[in-house]
Amino acid sequence: MYKFERAIVRTPADSFAEGITPGLYGKADPELAKVQHNKYIQALRQCGLEVIVLEPDNEFPDSCFVEDPVIVTDRVAILTNFHAPTRKGEVDRILLTIENIYGSHIERIEGPGTVEGGDICQVENHFFIGLSQRTNEEGACQLGAILKKYGFTSSIISIRALPEILHLKTCMSYIGENTFILQKAILKESELAPFNKIVVPDNEGYASNCIRVNDTVILPEGFDETIKQTRAAGFNVLETPMSEFMKQDGGLSCLSLRIPKLNL
Ligand code: GLY
Repeated sequence: MYKFERAIVRTPADSFAEGITPGLYGKADPELAKVQHNKYIQALRQCGLEVIVLEPDNEFPDSCFVEDPVIVTDRVAILTNFHAPTRKGEVDRILLTIENIYGSHIERIEGPGTVEGGDICQVENHFFIGLSQRTNEEGACQLGAILKKYGFTSSIISIRALPEILHLKTCMSYIGENTFILQKAILKESELAPFNKIVVPDNEGYASNCIRVNDTVILPEGFDETIKQTRAAGFNVLETPMSEFMKQDGGLSCLSLRIPKLNL
């Protein structure tokens, strides 16, 4: 699933560096994050998308990671229910924008179920739902039922044995043409057996979170071996700088909701 018409993004807040992070890569610079965010928007536009840019929201330092509060499809938008307490309010903050696009075609994950969008990986009409530190069994079960109602299939991949991985898409991304870019840690996952795989080197794990947008794979700048392998596999690649988002444990996919032509 990679044919998109528009995207929603949110400008990083001045409070960006106060978001949730294991702090492995130093303190993030909110001003540099805004510069990098603008380049990310340019990359999406270059891929042919209309980009809806939401105002920064200082109350929610992680709110530029708009992929987590909503799951968007061509048939329905599904509001998630965060596990992370400091992020719970992000769902209501994006609701109006989603209503403007999806009208009444909106569903919601209810507590005690928790789901965060970074754990959801769409491959055509199938969704892999990651069980993680943030998405629980009850949330996965609710999501599976909603997806089924709209004609999608789903299956579960647990990443609970990989505590250093935040979300499912932190370690694997579908880039079309039956191909995943992924980390070695998830290589043997049986659900992924039917797919071609580009395995990122151990020192380029961050590049396993990337996005296919129309004819292009957008990858984080500087992950040269992954970029080389992706090009060698026949994909058109665009690079964009992500250092400040990496410091906040956010990947390239987390920064946008990519919306296909609607079929409501
Ligand atoms: N900083 C992204 C998250 O932890 O949700």
